[in-house]
Amino acid sequence: MTTTRHRIALIPGDGIGTEVLPPACAVLDAVGKRHGLAFSYDSFDWSCERYLAEGAMMPTDGLGRIRHHDAVLLGAVGWPGVADHVSLWGLLIPIRRQFRQYVNLRPIKVLEGVPSPVAKAGADVDFVVVRENVEGEYSEIGGRLNRGFPNEMAVQEAVFTRPGVERILDYAFTTAQRREGHLVSATKSNGIVHTMPFWDELVREAGERFPDVEWRQEHIDALVAKIVLDPSRYDVIVGSNLFGDILSDLAAAVAGSIGIAPAANLNPEREYPSMFEPVHGSAPDIAGRGIANPLGAIWCASMMLDHLGHPEAAAEVFDAFASVLATTDARTADLGGTATTKEFTQLVLGAVTDR
Ligand code: NAI
Ligand code: MG
Repeated sequence: MTTTRHRIALIPGDGIGTEVLPPACAVLDAVGKRHGLAFSYDSFDWSCERYLAEGAMMPTDGLGRIRHHDAVLLGAVGWPGVADHVSLWGLLIPIRRQFRQYVNLRPIKVLEGVPSPVAKAGADVDFVVVRENVEGEYSEIGGRLNRGFPNEMAVQEAVFTRPGVERILDYAFTTAQRREGHLVSATKSNGIVHTMPFWDELVREAGERFPDVEWRQEHIDALVAKIVLDPSRYDVIVGSNLFGDILSDLAAAVAGSIGIAPAANLNPEREYPSMFEPVHGSAPDIAGRGIANPLGAIWCASMMLDHLGHPEAAAEVFDAFASVLATTDARTADLGGTATTKEFTQLVLGAVTDR
């Protein structure tokens, strides 16, 4: 068997970020052996700890150092004592934007053995949220005036460009084509009267380019209520940066635990590395105790394998952790169990190699 090599940049970050990446790498190495894949890892200490010591989340040439890796695996960033917008805008957002990772993809599945707090038992919940990841509401345009005076004010502009919206819609419609052929667009054109009607128009145009996809739009407020009431009715949901952010955390909770949910920041053209990160944060409340759920990070490893062109290896990783959940009682504390990160990882590794 010839060996395919991949260079992976690891950014463990803060808190449990540093505890969940080693399990993901162990699983990659184990499944790689069966598929002729060899991974080499370069680890970067970019984090709030670094910020407190050196005044920056990453070095000024940071992006250049990971520019030529095949993919980036990130744990979590954020720590008490460093404002969350500092850690976000000092690390995650520059990577997403400079590497043109304009798709944020979050698969939601209710797995056997992990009860959803809302879905009816046996309901088949399996959908993806496609979030626009580089423009929209999260823009740097705006400012603050009259700080400290009674008439203090803040203005924040949302930016929606035709190419930016068209490419995320094309990605979402293509994803729907490959899945069940159903797409819902999250909107709020009844309240937000410039950007959202523009978004809706471009959705309609995209619908004409993809006649085989059945689509509709739903207002974000009604949509979140419907997801809670019946998550099994969705296949692909596409939303702007803000709506997609909120929808994907809601959806992660619907699937049972934030500790399980994965996310991919994709540059579909592959001009830059894509980045894979669990949805959860650094969990300061449990950090350092070895009890974090490694599944979000392991599921990310599976998504990374898929992106790197190894769908069979990706499916084996998914099947391995799904079978551990379905056939054993082992659970980490977030799922009501007593297994440590290490113990749970061992079971997944066993399931990968026992095939
Ligand atoms: P969080 O996701 O870190 O924690 C929320 C709750 O879920 C906590 O009770 C935590 O113990 C639990 N939890 C999360 N992941 C878990 C896992 N894998 N296993 C078991 N339990 C888990 O969110 P929180 O507390 O709002 O944020 C903490 C820090 O993380 C903040 O600084 C925040 O900015 C940052 N953060 C970073 C993200 C990222 O790197 N993408 C995403 C979300 C938050
Ligand atoms: Mg979020």
